[in-house]
Amino acid sequence: MKTIIEPFKIKTVEPIRFTSRIERERILSEAGHNLFNLHSDDVLIDLLTDSGTAAMSAKQWAGIMEGDETYAGSKSFYRFEEIARGITGFRHIIPTHQGRAAEKILFSIMGGAGKVIPNNTHFDTTRANIELSGADAVDLPVAEGSMPSLKGDFKGNMDLEALEACLRREGSERIPLCMLTVTNNSRGGQPVSMENIRKTAELCHGHRIPLFLDACRFAENAYFIKLREPGYEKRSVREIAREMFSYADGCTMSAKKDGLVNIGGFLAMNNDDLAQRARSILVVTEGFPTYGGLAGHDLEAIAQGLEEVLDEHYLKYRIRSVAYVGERLSLLGVPIFQPPGGHAVYLDAKAFLPHIPPHEFPGQALACELYLHGGIRSCEIGSVMFGKTDTNSGAFQPAGLELVRLAIPRRVYTQSHMDYVVECVGEVFEKRDELKGIRIVSEPPVLRHFTARFEPL
Ligand SMILES: Cc1ncc(COP(=O)(O)O)c(C=O)c1O
Repeated sequence: MKTIIEPFKIKTVEPIRFTSRIERERILSEAGHNLFNLHSDDVLIDLLTDSGTAAMSAKQWAGIMEGDETYAGSKSFYRFEEIARGITGFRHIIPTHQGRAAEKILFSIMGGAGKVIPNNTHFDTTRANIELSGADAVDLPVAEGSMPSLKGDFKGNMDLEALEACLRREGSERIPLCMLTVTNNSRGGQPVSMENIRKTAELCHGHRIPLFLDACRFAENAYFIKLREPGYEKRSVREIAREMFSYADGCTMSAKKDGLVNIGGFLAMNNDDLAQRARSILVVTEGFPTYGGLAGHDLEAIAQGLEEVLDEHYLKYRIRSVAYVGERLSLLGVPIFQPPGGHAVYLDAKAFLPHIPPHEFPGQALACELYLHGGIRSCEIGSVMFGKTDTNSGAFQPAGLELVRLAIPRRVYTQSHMDYVVECVGEVFEKRDELKGIRIVSEPPVLRHFTARFEPL
């Protein structure tokens, strides 16, 4: 059979609330035109993020009941540790309440003023945690990663020449570690090839610099390697994932993505000294090392989720259903970041709204219109998230890309929900010339996209 189906039956349903355009105009205005400020009840289809929004399986919910809530030495921790260690191969598995907590601990130890931390592309929380420590976060993506319309198999890769130049220039005195984000969320959710992971590791290790994976979407990345990289067609996704981790010295992980849970994460590494320092911080900021900011039942759900995410029927459906949305939008002529990513389809707002300049935030304008038109919540990944305005000179530095991410929660929406999304984006595309830019009314000093308020121009 050619039809790829959802590899599950639906046991529990949650109603979604319909609103009219007039209601949404009022709601959006009250929210300061920031979609993060919306109440979920006012959203019909929520594609803000794939993080923490997965539907858990019956076995995960059973695990929630099995959770051992012992303070120290919970058996749920040991199950979680065994499964995470089995997949990653890392000696130390340190549970945290989510990915950014793992980042915070790692960079409070390894970061600091004068340090430089390269990555194919830092995610916003990773960048913010590095910068908060006083270090510089440097993005070194391959050039194709900045060309939305160009098709390519591994547009998430690290630019190896740029990395080598950076390692030579700064050396291990200034570079305490290098990161590699799989898949590359801020560059269209594009995968990183095994060859690129291996070569990045070789370069880093040649300079005695450890490599850490930002492994939130390790299973989706591994499946892309199976589909696209010669020599991996017959390997299991579990084996591919294990090989990916084998080149690294540690990882940060938000289990809210490929852990298929609503909360959780971990920090993992081989270095005993680093692990001891990380656990010391963990005890102060997260909790005892056998729960680290999570309940025992969360650890059970993550352990089960990490097993389920490696099911190749699931990954086939997952990657194919995201590609379906991207392909249908492309047929309508809608410019998207090509090819569709693992967890999301990214609209290319620069090409969608060429009449709106970056300082008028075309991505934010488009995201607002998708909400007004069809009740769909998406996320701007452009100059609101990554652009900067110099507080002294007032000079505006735009982001490299102006994207709107339609992130697809795992196991939540059906094909007809996605058909509705395609229809809505298509209708907004038809009337794109009528859309206007937007300006920032107020913003916080860091991670402004979460709480800034806007006004349409
Ligand atoms: C690539 C990447 N790294 C880190 C994070 C942070 O994870 P968390 O939201 O669990 O703190 C995210 C979250 O979206 C992400 O996509």
